[in-house]
Amino acid sequence: MQVDLRQSWWIRDVEIPTRLVLAPMAGVSVQAFRRQGRRYGAGLVCSEMVSCAGLEHKNERTLGYLRVARDEHPLAIQIFGSEPRVMAEAARMVVAAGADIVDINFGCPVRKVTKTGAGATLLDDADRACAIVEAVAEAAGVPVSVKMRRGLDDGSRTCLSVGPRLVDAGAATLTLHPRSARQMYTGEADHSLTAALVDLVDVPVIASGDITSRARAQAVLATTGAAAVMVGRGAQGNPWVLREIVDGNPDGPSREEVAAELIVFVRETVRELGERRASGFLKKFYGWYLGRGRFPKPFKQELVQLESTEEVVTRLFAAAPGAAELVEQLEAELPDPADEILLDSMPISIYGGG
Ligand SMILES: Cc1cc2nc3c(=O)[nH]c(=O)nc-3n(C[C@H](O)[C@H](O)[C@H](O)COP(=O)(O)O)c2cc1C
Repeated sequence: MQVDLRQSWWIRDVEIPTRLVLAPMAGVSVQAFRRQGRRYGAGLVCSEMVSCAGLEHKNERTLGYLRVARDEHPLAIQIFGSEPRVMAEAARMVVAAGADIVDINFGCPVRKVTKTGAGATLLDDADRACAIVEAVAEAAGVPVSVKMRRGLDDGSRTCLSVGPRLVDAGAATLTLHPRSARQMYTGEADHSLTAALVDLVDVPVIASGDITSRARAQAVLATTGAAAVMVGRGAQGNPWVLREIVDGNPDGPSREEVAAELIVFVRETVRELGERRASGFLKKFYGWYLGRGRFPKPFKQELVQLESTEEVVTRLFAAAPGAAELVEQLEAELPDPADEILLDSMPISIYGGG
């Protein structure tokens, strides 16, 4: 059975124009990543996880995650934490910042998060997980989604008992990444659990894990009955895979396209994070963009060693002169930064003065 990925679907009153969702990824899902994802066919994009404690204490870096641009919608902002009251307050803040959906993280397996009682550990404390969803749903005024793993331990099926309870508590959508927390990213996502979850709940389910091609996306949608597929690692430095998944367009990018997308990504990220943070943050992206046989290996090594992002951009233009026209086109389409919603409580420095 062929599933039309260009078909829209709904999370309560929010229309999602395609059945492809860009995954939240800490250290990856900056604004430039999200808006690029929308351009290449993702119907919904998501921020990386934002600490509700950081929001409560108005931590400057945490507040910086709440920059939302006009061309990102529909957008989910993901929050994590373990206290229903603090999570509810965080939900109000992210909605004020422009989130169309508040996503709750019950999947993070990283110790720094789980030791605070947040992330995947909440799958083993269903009462608290439900209290969080209830509090957030009441505070948010927009649909609330939950992203979870299959459970904490290998072979766990906890998601099937907790999932329906989260829906009763107010979750309008569930995203399942059917690996255990212990597995981290090893082994395979077991989407037979996704199919079982779809049978148990009457809200849309999003399937996350190992979706890297149109064939895989079609197979997972057809065999699970999920409303949409989510793509994470496959889209790192590779927005073209989103186009392939949604439209079946198999054309890989030209060197000029790769250079142009990377240049715009670099400039946007510098605008968002500032030069100092961006230059370190961006290094992993050079390998992701330039690999896959697109550029010779030494070229990547060279970029990683350059001091400033401006030098990186100059070097990319030199390697692919035809990129200049594409960059101009892409930048002409970007919305005015002044259109971003500014929360009164945010220190102006977050916006890098511009
Ligand atoms: C670097 C990285 C960071 C991630 N950060 C988050 C996060 O902040 N919140 C979340 O719910 N999932 C996070 N995930 C999990 C992804 O959203 C996704 O569920 C997982 O990678 C499986 O999908 P994939 O096989 O398409 O990558 C992260 C994954 C990676 C690789």
